[in-house]
Amino acid sequence: MNNIFRQNNLVSKQDRENRFGTKGAVVWLTGLSGSGKSTIAVKTEKLLTDKGYRCYLLDGDNLRLGLNADLGFSDEDRSENIRRISHVAALFAHSGCICFVSAISPFAKDRETAKQAAKKMDVPFFEIFVDTSVEECIRRDTKGLYKKALAEEIKDFTGISSPYEAPEEPFLRIDTLSCTADEAAEQVCNLLALVQNLGKMCAELCEVSIKAGAEILDVYNSDFAVQTKDDRSPLTQADLRSNKVIVDFLTSCYPDIAVLSEETKDTGERRQNPFCFVVDPLDGTKEFVKRNGEFTVNIGLCAYGKPILGVVYAPVTNTLWYAAVGCGAFSQTDDENTYFDEKNRIFVSDKTDNFTVMASRSHADERLAKILDNNKDRIAKTVSAGSSLKGCLIAEGKADIYYRTGLTCEWDTCAMHCVVEQAGGVLRQLDHTPLVYNRENTLNDKGFYILNRPENTLE
Ligand code: ADX
Repeated sequence: MNNIFRQNNLVSKQDRENRFGTKGAVVWLTGLSGSGKSTIAVKTEKLLTDKGYRCYLLDGDNLRLGLNADLGFSDEDRSENIRRISHVAALFAHSGCICFVSAISPFAKDRETAKQAAKKMDVPFFEIFVDTSVEECIRRDTKGLYKKALAEEIKDFTGISSPYEAPEEPFLRIDTLSCTADEAAEQVCNLLALVQNLGKMCAELCEVSIKAGAEILDVYNSDFAVQTKDDRSPLTQADLRSNKVIVDFLTSCYPDIAVLSEETKDTGERRQNPFCFVVDPLDGTKEFVKRNGEFTVNIGLCAYGKPILGVVYAPVTNTLWYAAVGCGAFSQTDDENTYFDEKNRIFVSDKTDNFTVMASRSHADERLAKILDNNKDRIAKTVSAGSSLKGCLIAEGKADIYYRTGLTCEWDTCAMHCVVEQAGGVLRQLDHTPLVYNRENTLNDKGFYILNRPENTLE
């Protein structure tokens, strides 16, 4: 790398997106040879191109006829194959193109390289696992290669004589036995089409959260009554009025997306829908009742259980935190009239020590006290804040770590989860598994942590 100088372009990623109308992304399809990756990829590329988006498919086989013609199928050559494709895909995406990759990409570490290459270019990365068992691939054997591999005429054949490491946390898993290639392509197409629209949706939802905040403040500044719900949590007119503003908007403007809200009866029908808004119209009712200002409006959107958009609004300080996949995370006061201004972009801190730890204003317990005590040498200070503000403060680098051992619900975390991740941070359950949304049981009963960096877990 000596004597190499990075040349900055005069045209930014944003300029290209605005000019050509497509938000770049890498859609990486992994799976065994003959699993259906390329079939699904070509169909999705066609569907999205017909919708007017710029798309390009980098197919593993095709690239091996040119760019990667010097590579074979040893572990090293496959890694080099994927390394090259990773960087080319990230460049395509950066140029304002939805770049599909269909390559076996059998090793998790190489797929991680692909993800990091996209991250470096600031483009979203979707790992799609085309999950067809080796038995089924042998049965289909469209290219006749399994027959040859089983007869040892081809060596190092994936699934037969070379390993395939299935992704543990793909964005989407496609079981090709339970859906057709056309159905799978439609699924991927719908996801990408939604991602293209997230910036516009996010700006709209910021506006809606501000309107909901006005309803809340109207009650806050009056002599309000507090009811107690079945789960003993408080409820005020503010919760209900905010809920109405938000849910009326979502159901009329986005009728195809399900809604889960703390204050709307949950019929469970939402579970049939891969896309679901997750809403807490007033998070921190206890803080509201105490009148300390630390309550928020939370609107999240999840796709296949993962948060892809989040808006958190604190009415008392007029502050918005918002984020969407492909857009990044931002914070601003509500009197600015543009969204996604680069100057308002937020990032987590890069601290590895001297942490500022967030503590809950209204919840504390022994398990948490123990975690904090075990790590007291690494902690510079502890700061309290109510509701989802804790995650937002970490997202903007004002704090670093938050551990929550007690119970929360999906609507308490979904929006801030997106803000944290898009700012470069991590939110996981205490057992280190991902927290997913639109579940049957909406209780987050395993606890969770938020970290500025994945390696900063406290034990
Ligand atoms: S990867 O493992 O490096 O990601 P890639 O997707 O580029 O593989 O190429 C896989 C394609 O090469 C298969 O679909 C098949 O057509 C062909 N192929 C030839 N030999 C092998 C082999 N030994 N293992 C897997 N695929 C092979």
